[in-house]
Amino acid sequence: MKKIAVLTSGGDAPGMNAAVRAVVRMALHNGIEVMGVQRGYAGLISGELFKMDRKSVSDIIQRGGTVLRTARCKEFKQEEVREKAAAILKAYGVDALVVCGGDGSFTGAKLLSKLGVKTVGLPGTIDNDLAYTDYTIGFDTALNTVLDAISKLRDTSSSHERVSVIEVMGRNCGDLTLYAGIAGGAEAIIVPEMPFNKDELIQTILQGKLNGKLHNIVLVAEGVGGAEELAKEIEEVTGIESRATILGHIQRGGNPTAMDTVLASRMGAKAVQVLMEGKTSRVIGIKDNKIFDQDIDEALAMERTFDVDLYNIANAINQ
Ligand code: ADP
Ligand code: F6P
Repeated sequence: MKKIAVLTSGGDAPGMNAAVRAVVRMALHNGIEVMGVQRGYAGLISGELFKMDRKSVSDIIQRGGTVLRTARCKEFKQEEVREKAAAILKAYGVDALVVCGGDGSFTGAKLLSKLGVKTVGLPGTIDNDLAYTDYTIGFDTALNTVLDAISKLRDTSSSHERVSVIEVMGRNCGDLTLYAGIAGGAEAIIVPEMPFNKDELIQTILQGKLNGKLHNIVLVAEGVGGAEELAKEIEEVTGIESRATILGHIQRGGNPTAMDTVLASRMGAKAVQVLMEGKTSRVIGIKDNKIFDQDIDEALAMERTFDVDLYNIANAINQ
């Protein structure tokens, strides 16, 4: 292993910079050259590669976003485009590629490895929607961002005695909503993985009012959606003023938390070690606080499980 490349792909996630830094520093520490690829697979197919040294990753560990930039590149789904990418990497003398992104990016990496490019995936997404790993890089930071938003919205909701319906990102995964619901003491948590009973929600809100609650925080996962409509309906049926807030891309930004920074650093270092062992088509994950690598096909085929116990705890203690 003489030269590797690294890119970030799909939606950015806080901690991606720390992961790139760890890849670069671990590789250089072991005498391996590193090329950075800008703008994910889009930059790869247009040859946006540059040599990285220790200084290229100075002062980025604490920064959100990704200095390598990122993209969604539809063309990468075409075999001939991936062949071009493989040829570019070969022309640069690159032996292996580290891809930090979500399941879409991993699928791209998996297909690229079938063309002879050694690949390793780092789970970088705020969604925490990869079944094979307990946590993804960016999840903890986004969770803290959502929590901060909840506490601010709680202030104004309590002052006005309103219901606050808050829409949280996560694509089809309810993890961010569930964890934010627990941490933020939300009265209701609506996620795609669990059935939602509107009548029960209305009863909860009315009962809360009777119990003297000044506010009601209703978290809705993006995968369920419809926060505006739900707030309107709650107001119509209960007579309690309601407002909807869609948190949006604010959840993707911000400096990574210490947890994400440490996770990204451990995972980035592991990616290089895995490549040095001669492995390919692997992804890096964390289980029971142990960093591990796994076959990419196996990891992508795993079915995600939702933490129903945690969901039940939230419902028991938050209402
Ligand atoms: P994420 O990696 O966060 O899931 P996307 O689903 O947008 O984000 O995927 C990121 C990129 O990965 C896509 O823009 C595309 O370049 C590549 N990709 C996604 N799905 C595939 C696929 N089926 N085949 C090849 N490349 C893919
Ligand atoms: O995967 C991260 C994510 O922020 C999802 O939570 C959301 O559904 C999606 O990306 C938004 O994508 P975009 O940034 O392309 O609007």
